[in-house]
Amino acid sequence: MSLKDKIDLNKLPTHIAIIMDGNGRWAKQKGKIRVFGHQHGVKSVRDAAESCAELGVKYLTLYAFSTENWNRPKLEINALMELLVSTINKETKTLNDNDIKLEAIGDLKSLPSSCYRELMNAIEKTKNNKRMTLVLALSYSSRMELVEAMKSIAKDVAAGKINADEIDENTIIQNIYTKDIPDPELLIRTSGEHRISNFLLWQSAYTELYFTDTLWPDFGKEKLYEAIIDFQSRERRFGMTSEQMKR
Ligand code: FPP
Repeated sequence: MSLKDKIDLNKLPTHIAIIMDGNGRWAKQKGKIRVFGHQHGVKSVRDAAESCAELGVKYLTLYAFSTENWNRPKLEINALMELLVSTINKETKTLNDNDIKLEAIGDLKSLPSSCYRELMNAIEKTKNNKRMTLVLALSYSSRMELVEAMKSIAKDVAAGKINADEIDENTIIQNIYTKDIPDPELLIRTSGEHRISNFLLWQSAYTELYFTDTLWPDFGKEKLYEAIIDFQSRERRFGMTSEQMKR
């Protein structure tokens, strides 16, 4: 029985989020520059998107660039942006052929204009696709997302549109980037780091976390299947008891 066959298709996570980490170390192990790792990371991006679509996962969110990543050496940032532009450009047809919709979350306006343009173009071209949504987190910071949400709610209160006492979880949800996206059920981080690193802090309140030592460029389809199988072996109780969940 292959790993893929061990996956229970009736218990698939609707939304998988991934912190793609370890490109730099992967390149270093091979005596190459960091950008070499990012270039090879693109293959894992393709593998993850393809396997999620094939299985029937509805949303895949990839942490491609955090606001903190702007502090990296200029050369690496430029190479990453170029890689993003060329990958998005090259893969738009594949996304359409596979009925995959592209979306992006983050401070998108802070991206270089060529990157922003290419991204918007691909989002527009794939907007009617239905099989799966691929969400790229770009120039993303979860704390910033929450700060912006709070500002926007405060403005609504000041304008008399809502009453402060009426603010509830749904008010927050309506004001964050992911308002139309369900919370991830499984969050994977590669490369042996056990941190969330400012990613989907609100959205991952009940998310199952999966950490693997595998570096992102080595995270192929089989590694993703392993993560899903592990997820399916867990009991998600949302604060209730095991007995309550069986009722
Ligand atoms: C983390 O590895 C990876 C990134 C910051 C970038 C991820 C980008 C890609 C895989 C390229 C293209 C992406 C798309 C969506 C087309 P790291 O550099 O932090 O590695 P390290 O921790 O070993 O230094």
